[in-house]
Amino acid sequence: MSADRQPIGVIGTGYVGLVTAAGFAELGSDVWCVDIDAEKVERLKRGEVPIYEPGLEELLARNKARLHFSTELDGALEHARLLFVAVGTPPTYSGDADLSAVHAVVDGLPASAEHALVMKSTVPCGTGTSLARAFGEQGKDGLGYVSCPEFLKEGSAVNDFLHPDRVVVGDDGNWAGDAVVELYAPLGAPLVRTDVASAEMVKLASNAFLATKISFINEIANVCEETGADVVEVARGMGLDDRIGAKFLQAGIGFGGSCFPKDVDALKQLAGNSGYHFQLLTAVIEVNELQKRRVIGKLHKHLGGLVGKRVALLGLAFKPNTDDMREASSLVLSARLNADGASVSAYDPVAEEQARRLVTGITFADSPLSAVRGADAVVLVTEWQELLELDWAQVAEAMSGDLVIDGRNALDPQAVRAAGLSYEGIGRR
Ligand SMILES: NC(=O)c1ccc[n+]([C@@H]2O[C@H](COP(=O)([O-])OP(=O)(O)OC[C@H]3O[C@@H](n4cnc5c(N)ncnc54)[C@H](O)[C@@H]3O)[C@@H](O)[C@H]2O)c1
Repeated sequence: MSADRQPIGVIGTGYVGLVTAAGFAELGSDVWCVDIDAEKVERLKRGEVPIYEPGLEELLARNKARLHFSTELDGALEHARLLFVAVGTPPTYSGDADLSAVHAVVDGLPASAEHALVMKSTVPCGTGTSLARAFGEQGKDGLGYVSCPEFLKEGSAVNDFLHPDRVVVGDDGNWAGDAVVELYAPLGAPLVRTDVASAEMVKLASNAFLATKISFINEIANVCEETGADVVEVARGMGLDDRIGAKFLQAGIGFGGSCFPKDVDALKQLAGNSGYHFQLLTAVIEVNELQKRRVIGKLHKHLGGLVGKRVALLGLAFKPNTDDMREASSLVLSARLNADGASVSAYDPVAEEQARRLVTGITFADSPLSAVRGADAVVLVTEWQELLELDWAQVAEAMSGDLVIDGRNALDPQAVRAAGLSYEGIGRR
């Protein structure tokens, strides 16, 4: 790519920041990355990749010469005008987004008319306005501000960066908005150029809509269980309607991850703080919480109580192809199983290290077969390809019971049953 691509700064080198940095380096920019986590920065300088994201290691290695890592802002300020912000915005106890990391970034910036913040972090609608006020209070009115929400999906983040469905740029028409548009131009994605508040809302509304679709099909699945219909057939029939579409119609044990739960909650709280009661999102959240627990009911029904029973969880990450355990359904499941007296073994090809930090009371296994050995029941929690290709005859031989609960409707029921096991999905006949 051309040598005259503008250099950029990226503040926060987590899932979003690191992929953004590697992606823009691939497009030809020099990228000055900043993170407060000194250990992470040291690892990145050594060429180690602190997260699991397919294709990221290769992309970082290929663009090593253009990527610079530091705990200090100086290099980014000296070399770049656009400073992409990709720090975490986790939920607070109230459900609102915690913007303390964003404010720490703003507080650390000098007064400058040469620089602009480009917000990649997911922030409540109105954040741009309140940050502009903060700039004024701190004598930093010259700083530009652009909202450029991120839509990448963990597990396919590199591809999503390089082939985005759309690029959303919200600004007040200053130089920085034009510069961001120019940076993304080589990707050829549809551009939504709009005001800051609308750009902020596009992100929250998109995630809330996707979460609503999931909770909707999960409720349909639950009704299917009462009425004898099969949700997989129902979703197939619905999804062919191009007004509906087939994506996000897979019933299962609920959504998790670092985005959907917190963003849905943040939008609900944002509405509430403005005096509007967002009833639909209240239901979406509640359905999701109940859905995570429905597997426990199924286990009770089949095993006649969980005290002393052995349950194997296959997969722990909130979805396949990531090591991210934030808000994973497995966290709720393992805690409930322990509380009900079951012993839990688990296998995940990638997320074990993250899981060990978050859960107690699980025996971690180094293969699916050792996880299921002696189990009364097996629950597919994350549909890793490796788990979909299991030899069910071997699983049947290793288990002491015969119950397989397919929490993602991702297994072939006939293959499981052919091995002499008893299959139960979510909303399936
Ligand atoms: N993960 C996703 O799939 C995804 C997708 C779209 C949008 N987002 C949004 O992007 C933002 C980042 O998400 P993530 O998953 O990459 O988070 P993350 O927790 O993986 O990374 C955040 C990084 O920011 C660093 N950081 C915190 N405070 C800092 C500061 N003051 N200065 C410099 N670095 C600082 C942390 O050390 C960490 O490395 C969030 O707002 C999230 O909602 C995430």
